[in-house]
Amino acid sequence: MHAVGIVAAAGSGLRLGSDLPKALVPLAGRPLVAWSVDALRAGGVAEIVVTVPPGRRDAFAAVLPPDVRLVDGGASRTASVRAGLAAASADADVVLVHDAARPLTPPDVVARVLAALADGQPAVVPTLPVVDTTVVVDDAGVITDAPARAHLRRVQTPQGFDRAILAAAYAALGPDADLTDDAAVVRAAGIPVTTVPGDERAAKVTVAHDLETAEARVRR
Ligand code: C5P
Repeated sequence: MHAVGIVAAAGSGLRLGSDLPKALVPLAGRPLVAWSVDALRAGGVAEIVVTVPPGRRDAFAAVLPPDVRLVDGGASRTASVRAGLAAASADADVVLVHDAARPLTPPDVVARVLAALADGQPAVVPTLPVVDTTVVVDDAGVITDAPARAHLRRVQTPQGFDRAILAAAYAALGPDADLTDDAAVVRAAGIPVTTVPGDERAAKVTVAHDLETAEARVRR
């Protein structure tokens, strides 16, 4: 099995309150994207493509190993992953798509996703249970539904796919599609997505508090 990792790193640092692209924001002195590339490699993914904000290649090349391939991302995460997928080497048969914003993902999570793919699953995502009651609201903020918590999960990355299936699912999407993860892309193509246990340490860094939490974890 030849796995390629696509690290989505073309987002802005707006919600973190940073002028830098989020993936270049430092965690314990190293950019988030450098941690995320290390996490994939530690879990067993050697070939890595990173999608970067257009115009920022030099800044990313300066902080990543020289064998990491850099490609320009797009205006949405979906467009960025699409560009990364096009740059993956032709002999890769599975793809792991990872958020640069999940710097402390333990290697075990990556290994669990790879193992499920090796078992023949076409699509697999790491998930965690939901501990809060979770509701659906309308535009006025009034609760319209409260799905049974036992069946709810929080979805993390890396998300793993048979490469041909992911490529076909992206090809079937409209050019302006904007989905929040890749499981949604393959589900739109009718492919079942299985789950493996995720890990709280694979949390996404979105706001300043998340970065403080990650800093504290690195210090420990
Ligand atoms: O915005 P959010 O935190 O959900 O983004 C998840 C990941 O997708 C981040 O690592 C971000 O850099 C990446 N992204 C991207 N291209 C975009 C928007 C987000 O690669 N246009």
